[in-house]
Amino acid sequence: MKKKYQICYMGGDGIGPDVTIESIRLLQATGISFNFVQAEIGFEAYNKYGTPLPQKTIEICKKSDAILFGAITTPPNIKGYFSPIVHLRKNLDLYANVRPFKSLPIPNQKPGIDFIIVRENTEDLYAGQERLTKEGAIAERVITKKGCEKIIKFAFELAKKQNRKKVTVVHKANILRITDGLFLDIAKKISQRYPQIIMEEMLVDSCAMQLIKKTEAFDVIVTTNMFGDILSDEAAGLTGGLGVAASGNMGNNQGLFEPVHGSAPKYAGRNIANPMASFLSSAMMLEFLGEDKMAQKIRISIKKTIELGLTTKDLGGKLKSSEFTDKVINNL
Ligand code: NAI
Ligand code: MG
Repeated sequence: MKKKYQICYMGGDGIGPDVTIESIRLLQATGISFNFVQAEIGFEAYNKYGTPLPQKTIEICKKSDAILFGAITTPPNIKGYFSPIVHLRKNLDLYANVRPFKSLPIPNQKPGIDFIIVRENTEDLYAGQERLTKEGAIAERVITKKGCEKIIKFAFELAKKQNRKKVTVVHKANILRITDGLFLDIAKKISQRYPQIIMEEMLVDSCAMQLIKKTEAFDVIVTTNMFGDILSDEAAGLTGGLGVAASGNMGNNQGLFEPVHGSAPKYAGRNIANPMASFLSSAMMLEFLGEDKMAQKIRISIKKTIELGLTTKDLGGKLKSSEFTDKVINNL
């Protein structure tokens, strides 16, 4: 019997639900069998239940084959509010944040770009160990051996699966000798298990520059949480911007897929947001589920559609969100 996948979908706030609904339409048009189960998250959920991440949402996530997420609004300093997405990444041990970057046939785009950033997603300065002191404030940088091993292995396995030639390990071990020193040492050790893949190391500041100068030279980048956060937004800026940047948060047992953009409140509910980043995230989700062929079909269909100049307003076109979806479905 054909497998039926249970997908937990969480639109969240602002344009989150707008783009997620379009992705569901696209996924339903693939002929693959899905059971979509809705869950609540974000500021609207907070206003309803007093928490941005209801327990029920976590339970639905755990029971599903994969998770599709839209975006959430971060409210200004409100008591009891925490980032539900950061919380969920930890709770489900989604330790790898994966963001692919590829040249698209849109104006002002450098050709020949095709690389992936693999960012550690749970440790580093984002481990939440921050406190006030008499002199000011201190944040602790947490880097564990296990965390390094998991993320570096993940990056090399991804490179192997996709027949990629090179993994660039990005660090600042010349200054952060102990924390990034550990990360780099473990990378060197693990890379020996993959003789067919070249391991290159690069300082993060140099990488920030090389990304602009020689974007097409990158293949897979693996790095710690904060460096990856910053470099991946830089890379998004080089490859079409927020309307097209996709991401996956992956662990050994679960995957959560989301556009990189936020809730863009001024566009909410107006059928104008670009759903492409959510579509490309959905394609990543299909790969995670083992539906590689359909993922590729979606990417080709998106490319065909935008090659014809059929895009939403942010990319210079005239289409509404739903009209863009219709075109992509027609080109499938
Ligand atoms: P944003 O990504 O929501 O929007 C910035 C600008 O990018 C928008 O004004 C719009 O011009 C453009 N844009 C973004 N996505 C687009 C799309 N799909 N189609 C067309 N244009 C698009 O970032 P901003 O304005 O800094 O944050 C808004 C809210 O979103 C804040 O509350 C922020 O905290 C939250 N946020 C949430 C994220 C998440 O849920 N993962 C990530 C980033 C921000
Ligand atoms: Mg960011």
